[in-house]
Amino acid sequence: MSGETTDKAGKIARLREQIAGCRRCPLHETRTLTVPGEGDPDADIMFIGEAPGRNEDRQGKPFVGRAGDVFDRLLASVELTRDQIYLCNILKCRPPNNRNPLVGEIQACVGSLDLQIKIVNPSVIGTLGNFATMYILEKFGIPLRKISELAGTSLAVESQFGPKRIVPLYHPAVATYSPTKIDTLLEHFQVFRESRLLAARRDPGA
Ligand code: URA
Repeated sequence: MSGETTDKAGKIARLREQIAGCRRCPLHETRTLTVPGEGDPDADIMFIGEAPGRNEDRQGKPFVGRAGDVFDRLLASVELTRDQIYLCNILKCRPPNNRNPLVGEIQACVGSLDLQIKIVNPSVIGTLGNFATMYILEKFGIPLRKISELAGTSLAVESQFGPKRIVPLYHPAVATYSPTKIDTLLEHFQVFRESRLLAARRDPGA
């Protein structure tokens, strides 16, 4: 493990502790566990979802319910596993009854997400669903458009931490409500095959 990798792991571990004690919005009163995120702190690809649901709130891990099963299937379709990526959410605590995040909750919480992006510094960010997509487009100064126009595309941006590609995607939960949508999600996910990162992984000598 390189020094930079150890450093990233340490910073992510400290951030997890801060999130565990967070009381910046009322969601701390109703949560069971915080769901900070998990995966490789040195990953080239980060995925950002919306907010923990009931299973995530109980286990403290992202995407462990039915949407998580869909997400694992999408990852497997491009030969990726969870230990090769970093996975987190816009909100680190569950909104009651899985309602949409409120503006104030997002504002209170995204400082942690911003730090995760800064520490992991992935080259590719996959945004799962509307909330993550709109937040990341705005953060990187990309003009807002409907997710239906963007899903499955790859947007190149220059950031203060170097070039990045943003990949807006529909939320995996869509396939739990409308099972036929899995084909669209699988098709959109193939964009990760085009990334130079996957190409490098398939051919380490490249
Ligand atoms: N589980 C998560 O962790 N995030 C979501 O956005 C949905 C389910």
